[in-house]
Amino acid sequence: MTTTWTPASWRSKEAKHVPTDYPDMAALAGVEQTLRGMPPLVFAGEARRLKTLLGDVAAGKAFLLQGGDCAESFKEFAADNIRDSFRLILQMAVVLTFAGGKPVVKVGRMAGQFAKPRSSPIETLGDVTLPSYRGDIINGMEFTPEARTPDPQRLMQAYSQSAATLNLLRAFAGGGYADLYNIHRWTLGFVNDSPQGARYHELSEKISEALTFMAAIGVTPESQPDLHRVEFFTAHEALLLGFEEAMTRIDSTSGEWYDTSAHMVWIGERTRQLDGAHVEYFRGIRNPIGVKCGPTMEPDDLLRLIDVLNPKNEAGRLTLYGRFGHDKIAGRLPALLDATKKDGRNVVWAIDPMHGNTLTATNGYKTRPFDRILSEVKSFVEICKAEGVHPGGVHLEMTGQNVTECLGGARALTEGDLADRYHTHCDPRLNGEQALELAFLVAEKLKEDRVAEAVRAAV
Ligand code: TRP
Ligand code: MN
Repeated sequence: MTTTWTPASWRSKEAKHVPTDYPDMAALAGVEQTLRGMPPLVFAGEARRLKTLLGDVAAGKAFLLQGGDCAESFKEFAADNIRDSFRLILQMAVVLTFAGGKPVVKVGRMAGQFAKPRSSPIETLGDVTLPSYRGDIINGMEFTPEARTPDPQRLMQAYSQSAATLNLLRAFAGGGYADLYNIHRWTLGFVNDSPQGARYHELSEKISEALTFMAAIGVTPESQPDLHRVEFFTAHEALLLGFEEAMTRIDSTSGEWYDTSAHMVWIGERTRQLDGAHVEYFRGIRNPIGVKCGPTMEPDDLLRLIDVLNPKNEAGRLTLYGRFGHDKIAGRLPALLDATKKDGRNVVWAIDPMHGNTLTATNGYKTRPFDRILSEVKSFVEICKAEGVHPGGVHLEMTGQNVTECLGGARALTEGDLADRYHTHCDPRLNGEQALELAFLVAEKLKEDRVAEAVRAAV
């Protein structure tokens, strides 16, 4: 890894899950050239700001909340979807901020989450075999040869959809929609309607009281503009390296390279090879970055990866997302936490409780049981506490829409319910109610631990 880095140096390495079967590779290169001339989606200063905030998370002073679709799609692109997912993240953030007693860094898995690694490059239905669907930035989901053929024009459509999505998110974040009082009012509606409402009532009442108290002493959105707006960031798995390369620019302020397709990007579990193209690309960009760590990650492999991805040990540069499964986390996470802690590595540890808990229902739907998702998050918090590491945050696949993709939750969705509104373009997502419930249940856990800590400190 001592060779010179350029935005294109990944091209001399093996790039897993990056398609090379475009009918016309020259057309792809042409589109990438066009993208090089398009405006950046984010400003490097914003990415640096997120890095600073993640540095607070690494230091145990804040939490990270990251969420959104497994895969965004061209078809489901609509203002309401964007608004509902944004609102959901903020509702969860209020609950977690209150319970954890720390600021929550809000990151949408939005405005760029279009490329998917697939377990098999082909899919067979009956006696027809076609290339697998790889995400809307590459090909179409429909099971026809036309749709499944990679199309370079999709990069342009992904760019424009990302720009429009980000524009709306910025408007919501700064224009008043994110008002704390407003967001909390939505949550009270959820608590009233939920079959488990009684369980969430106490915490939501306490938040209401805190807000009433604040208003009474003059801390209002009028006197405190920060109550009226949020800092909101975007992130996606930077899988399709040709697209990311085209969006990589030198920041004129610092003279350094940034991937301007999002504030933060991460490397997936399937593309984190030390000598692979993705690690090569990521080592040269200055954005805050993440790496997914699954059950096969060994402590030494992790340290070697960190050597390459965060050689200066900068806080906020690197977020590690465990994704083991509810039954495997206890066997895998402690050694990894121990390794980074003993070695003094400045990283954020967060949990992705989605990808290790996927199963196929008896009726064929790919799904995830709510209880297992919750269980992995709770185990994460406990293991972190035991190892003396800050449980830095969660990364969820979720949507504000009322879908039926994950089992369980307060409405006890069953396998039979999955068919009702199963809309995901890839993995099953928590719906709005399930995600908010998860926030309340994790909040209970954070609060218990916070009270226990205070008691320990007092005696
Ligand atoms: N700006 C503050 C923050 O982000 C307070 C705030 C305003 C807030 N609206 C919010 C917090 C919505 C969570 C959700 O923490
Ligand atoms: Mn997924």
